[in-house]
Amino acid sequence: MLSILFAVVGIMGAMPEEISLLTQDLKNHQEVQIGPRTYHTGTLYGTEAVVVYPCVGKVASASVATTLIHRFHVDQLFFSGTAGAADSQLQVGDIVIADRLVQHDLDARPFFKQFEVPFLNESVFFTDPSLVEAAYQTAESFLDNDMNGLIDAASIDAFSLYSPQVYIGGIASGDQFIADPLKIQEICRLIPGTLCVEMEGAAVAHVCFENQIPFLIFRVISDRADHSAPVDFLKFVRKIANSYSKGLIQGLIYQLN
Ligand code: ADE
Repeated sequence: MLSILFAVVGIMGAMPEEISLLTQDLKNHQEVQIGPRTYHTGTLYGTEAVVVYPCVGKVASASVATTLIHRFHVDQLFFSGTAGAADSQLQVGDIVIADRLVQHDLDARPFFKQFEVPFLNESVFFTDPSLVEAAYQTAESFLDNDMNGLIDAASIDAFSLYSPQVYIGGIASGDQFIADPLKIQEICRLIPGTLCVEMEGAAVAHVCFENQIPFLIFRVISDRADHSAPVDFLKFVRKIANSYSKGLIQGLIYQLN
């Protein structure tokens, strides 16, 4: 009961452009500097929250997740940002909610199985199904009702965001920005069910698993992880990503309260 009454949510993002809008909505906003990062504390949409960025790559995100859990005592952790499509069905603007995450670059063979975290006996980290369900409702409602109020018509046209879809499935994370269709094919072959790739989710999931903290990873597709990915990614991040994060995190907090 206490953990519900005094719930603190940790919210992480990779690039500032993917998450920084949320800090403008913090009430009683205070800043705590720890190492190179500012942790933004306050009340977000009625819930006590800590928002932190930038956080790019597995080590940075594992370090920040650990700080959020042990210094700020968050009792759930959300990560919102972009991803490269791995499944060819996915289009730019689609939302992926991870129900499972794998570190695609973790390979301690021959001592452990490929992708297995040594001495943890786990390769795949699963999201709590009730959080996945809440996130799905939130994402559908964002696309149906809120997106057009947050993203201007010119940007909707520029990125052809006419009928984005919500997907639930696997996310593969690694310390690589992927811009190579062959690499994506290889990841999909080795980790069936992978919908998209990014650089943080599985590390956050791993830390949350070790600390028994519920987590949710939201991703919006910014690129196809192909040769145009670096250009597509930057354009999307500069214009669109922040609005998705704001709408999705706001919706999720309301949905859970
Ligand atoms: N985040 C967004 N696009 C990505 C890509 N292509 N590879 C890794 N992380 C990403």
